[in-house]
Amino acid sequence: MSQIDYCVKPGGKLSGTFRVPGDKSISHRSIMFGSIADGTTHVTGFLQGEDSLNTLRAFRAMGVEIDGPNEQGEVTIHGVGIDGLKSPATSIDLGNSGTSIRLMSGLLAGQAFDVELSGDRSLSKRPMKRVTDPLALMGANIDTAEEGKPPLKVNGGSKMQGIDYTMPMASAQVKSCILLAGMYASGKTCVTEPATTRDHTERMLNAFGYKVETTGNRMCLEGGGRLTACDIDVPSDISSAAFFLVGASIAQNSDITLQHVGINPTRTGVIDILKLMGANIELQNERLVGGEPVADIRVRSAQLKGINVPEELVPLAIDEFPVLFVAAACADGQTVITGAEELRVKESDRIQVMADGLRAIGVDATPTEDGMIINGGSIQGGKVHSRDDHRIAMAFTMAALRADSDVIIEDCENVNTSFPDFIGLANRAGISVSITG
Ligand code: S3P
Repeated sequence: MSQIDYCVKPGGKLSGTFRVPGDKSISHRSIMFGSIADGTTHVTGFLQGEDSLNTLRAFRAMGVEIDGPNEQGEVTIHGVGIDGLKSPATSIDLGNSGTSIRLMSGLLAGQAFDVELSGDRSLSKRPMKRVTDPLALMGANIDTAEEGKPPLKVNGGSKMQGIDYTMPMASAQVKSCILLAGMYASGKTCVTEPATTRDHTERMLNAFGYKVETTGNRMCLEGGGRLTACDIDVPSDISSAAFFLVGASIAQNSDITLQHVGINPTRTGVIDILKLMGANIELQNERLVGGEPVADIRVRSAQLKGINVPEELVPLAIDEFPVLFVAAACADGQTVITGAEELRVKESDRIQVMADGLRAIGVDATPTEDGMIINGGSIQGGKVHSRDDHRIAMAFTMAALRADSDVIIEDCENVNTSFPDFIGLANRAGISVSITG
């Protein structure tokens, strides 16, 4: 792959009405659950980004017939039933996608066949013990590379038993992995999470007729059930909308509306944090679409102010911190983020990489073990590195709206993992960004 750098001209204002691409978490799950359901599942609004396409290709490789996606994001999945997956001919490459490898390790742990799951250089560095440890307690047999890193060789034929597991970290991927393994285990599987994380797995399994019981932060299901195909309308991804929520807040005279955005309460931390900072965000036309709440979101420019980000909001905004750090850089006063150590094991170490980039463009940012301290002020032009992380690349694109000269962002190929045509939409909204390199 040739290197793609972004050159973003300084300044600009955002205006217009847009629809950002489909939700990544929901798109992954639609393929996984549709594949092992009885019957045919129709999906609309599917995210045609590399991450969710890698999940789609993986299930095709395991014998599932999947039509699409077409231009409108329509996908038809001809489900093979809970025990219908077949051994893939080769190792499955999941690219950059942590959600694919962690959820699939659980789903595949109880199959009759062996399968190897691998990924790109970023995924190959990410911790997998958080899933392989609880899966081993359930009886799974998984070999890993050193320090529990990918590739994961999931050996088939394991007899799985349900567990009652308390997770050491707040992670929807770990929770989902264990619940999916629990469908193939004997008895009941329960997971308790230390803080609320996104609940798309629970919602979608229930929509497919597989009962998941949630009591506070504890989720349980019985093994040995079946899924019944259903239709899934994937809302726009609030994590992709987040770049424009911040962009329109920090660029003067901006006024944009983002349509059909998923506002599941386990995902709206970014809105709550921005509102605490003084953002002008209005939810319009709130409705329920296929079990997920959706709204149009209007954002207008506002002078943001620094805050201490409440720790309970951190897991509800975990993917949005790169761009929230940019918001903090444009705010009056100091913003302090704590309790966000999970940011260090995302597609990059998002605390270090964002602090390095912010400093390179003149922002007073101090990384800490579990967060960052940012003193708002002015932003200079300069060169920053995305470290192959899609959300870092898009966050610095927004920073240019307040810079005094060009911002160059290196290695932006991975924007395609979650936000196809980000450049097109950003330009239509009023950001002058072009590809160089
Ligand atoms: C996701 C869960 C989160 C998030 C990721 C998507 C999911 O990861 O960062 O982008 O779809 O379950 P963690 O479970 O590691 O927090």
